[in-house]
Amino acid sequence: MLIHQDMKMAEVIHLNHHLLHVINRFGIQLGYGEKTVSQLCQAHDIPLSFFLEIVNTFHDPSYFPIENMLQFKASLLINYLHQTHRYYLDFRIPEIANYIKRLSDDKAFSEDIKGLLQHFFNQYTSELTTHINKEEQRVYPYVLELERFLSSEHSDQALIQRLKAYSIHEYEEDHDDVEAKLFDLKNILIKYIPEPTDSRILNLILHELFELERDLNNHAHIEDLILVPIVDKMEQAFHARTVSS
Ligand SMILES: [Fe+2]
Ligand SMILES: [Fe+2]
Repeated sequence: MLIHQDMKMAEVIHLNHHLLHVINRFGIQLGYGEKTVSQLCQAHDIPLSFFLEIVNTFHDPSYFPIENMLQFKASLLINYLHQTHRYYLDFRIPEIANYIKRLSDDKAFSEDIKGLLQHFFNQYTSELTTHINKEEQRVYPYVLELERFLSSEHSDQALIQRLKAYSIHEYEEDHDDVEAKLFDLKNILIKYIPEPTDSRILNLILHELFELERDLNNHAHIEDLILVPIVDKMEQAFHARTVSS
């Protein structure tokens, strides 16, 4: 069952509480009262169809209406993707780091195992941060600048040359699979830790890693299957307009 505009937001959460973080990224916080999805989107100035498509792709991974989503403005997607990055780096990763810190006092694990886990987690965090920084510092600003150029009449030569120096295909080619790298970390916890006397904290860490993986998968799908084709179309319009520049 997909989420629709006339559902009360409270019902949406009762149906799937994993959506809480996704809904927060639109600036909608708890305290929904009896308000429907449509009423809350209106109150927060959020395009309803965009909200519904994003929430539903997260709610039901088999639902991914590419054609519908290709109609959205790139800046709308980037705003959502940016909020998602903040959520990973400011909330989800520090939360997992706290659990891993709790392990250091836990007598159920040897020092070697604690060190190994800490090492893998630090390595993963650093790869994820590099991945996100590249998108935030290079790719997203390029897309926003391209959108601004296309929606205005101006023909600033310096801006045109700057836009010509990059293409979304560069990003498409080296957009690494940061979610797949979580697999090794999860496998260490599931298979290779010598049987601990108490694995409750490990269970929590594992749960967090599965949640992060699910979120990253959805995020990467939006980047690869929606953002890239939208920007590809924008680049075609840009080249048609600046062919003689
Ligand atoms: Fe991203
Ligand atoms: Fe990415």
